Amino acid sequence: MKFLWASAPVNIERVARLVLGILLGVAVCGNSWAQKAEGLALTPQMGWNSWNKFACNIDERLIRETADAMVTSGMKDAGYQYVNIDDCWQGERDADGNIQPDPKRFPSGMKALADYVHGKGLKLGIYSDGGATTCGGRPGSRGHEYQDARTYARWGIDYLKYDWCNTPGMNAEAAYTTMRDAIAKAGRRMLFSLCEWGMSRPWEWAGQVGHSWRTTPDIYNCFDCEFSPGLSTGLGVLRILDRQAGLRKFAGPGHWNDMDMLEVGNGMSEDEDRAHLSIWAMMASPLILGNDLRSMSESTRRILTNPGVIAVSQDRLGVEALRVMVDGPLETYAKPLDGGRWALMFLNRSNQPADLRHDWKAEVLTDGMTNRSVDFKQTVYRWSDLWSKKTGDTSTKLQARLAPHSVLMLLLTGPAKS
Ligand code: GLA
Repeated sequence: MKFLWASAPVNIERVARLVLGILLGVAVCGNSWAQKAEGLALTPQMGWNSWNKFACNIDERLIRETADAMVTSGMKDAGYQYVNIDDCWQGERDADGNIQPDPKRFPSGMKALADYVHGKGLKLGIYSDGGATTCGGRPGSRGHEYQDARTYARWGIDYLKYDWCNTPGMNAEAAYTTMRDAIAKAGRRMLFSLCEWGMSRPWEWAGQVGHSWRTTPDIYNCFDCEFSPGLSTGLGVLRILDRQAGLRKFAGPGHWNDMDMLEVGNGMSEDEDRAHLSIWAMMASPLILGNDLRSMSESTRRILTNPGVIAVSQDRLGVEALRVMVDGPLETYAKPLDGGRWALMFLNRSNQPADLRHDWKAEVLTDGMTNRSVDFKQTVYRWSDLWSKKTGDTSTKLQARLAPHSVLMLLLTGPAKS
C-alpha cells in the first residue's frame, strides 16, 4: 500500500513530461502535418476565370462587374461561386518582397476587391506560378511561397490557381507541395488548383496536394482542332476529352481532373457549346466559365445554367464518366450517379449529322470501377433528355438524329417497373 502511494507522484510527473513532449513535437513539426484544406470542392468547383476571354486585359472594374453579372444573370443561383483573377494582376514586389497588385489596374487593392466579391455572396480567386515569373511575365511565387500565401490570406483570397511556366529543372510535386504547405500555414482555407498541364502525371501524386489538377495544355476555342503557335499548344474540346482516357480512377470528391476552363459563349456553335458543357459535366471537370458574363447572349446564359446538366456535374458521388461504346463517329459515355441513377451522353464527333439507334437491351451497362450495372432486359429505366426535356423509357429503342458536334444527354432514373 505504502509503495503504491509513494510511486504515484512520480507517475504523474512522467505523464506530464510525456504530454509536454508530444505538444512540443506537434508545434515543432507542425509544418509536416500541413495538408490541403479539407471539405472544399467535394463536387467539382464552379466559377469564372478571366483568362479565356480577357487574357492580360483585366482590371478591378471587370472583376466587380463580373461579380455583379454572376448574380444578376442567375449564374450564382445555378451554382457558380468563384470569381477568379488569372495572370497579369500583379505589379512589383515591395522592398520587403511583398507582392503588390498592378496599381493602375487594381488601384483599390485586392482586399477591397475581395470584400466586394464576398459582399455578393461569392468567393475570390487569384493566380500565381511556381516559377520566378508567370506565363505572362509577372512576378511568380518561387522563393516567396510562404510570403505570398500570407498575403493572399490577408486579402481574403479563397482560391489559388498555380501555374507552371518558367520552372526548368524544378520538381512539380515538390513545388506544389511547398505551396500547399504555405497555404496551410497562412491559415485561410483556399481551394488549390494545380495548373501543370499534366506533364508530370499530377493525377498520380496531387490528390493530397490540391483540389484539382489540369490534365492537358490550354483549351483552344474550337470543337475539333488543335492550334500550335510556337511552343504552346491549344486543344479543342474533343482533343481534351480524348486525353482523359485512363484518368477517371484518380478523380473524386475533393480531387478532380481539370480539363481547363470553359469556352462556352466564346464563338462555337450552340450545339458545340451544349456538347462542351455536357462533356465537362460528365467528366466531373471543374466548371469554370471563360466568357464575358456582362454581355453574353440569352442562349449562352441558358446553356450555362441548365440545371439538369449542372446536377450531373455536381452529383455527390463524384464519379467521372466512362466511355461505354464507340460506333463510328458516335460515342456513348455513362456516369453513375447518386441514388442508383445514371447520366448517359451520346456524342456525335463528326461534322456531319449521325443517326443514333440505341438498343438498350443489347448490352448490360456496366462500370467495373464502381461495381454498378444495369441490365435493361431485366429493368426498365425512365429517361429524360436534359437539353430537349423529352422523356421516355428504356423499354423501346432510342432513335435520334444527332446534329454535327452535338450530344444527346439523358438522365436515367429507375427502375420504372421490373
Ligand atoms: C497558362 C495557363 C493558362 C493561363 C495562362 C496565363 O497558359 O495554362 O490557363 O493561366 O498561363 O498566362
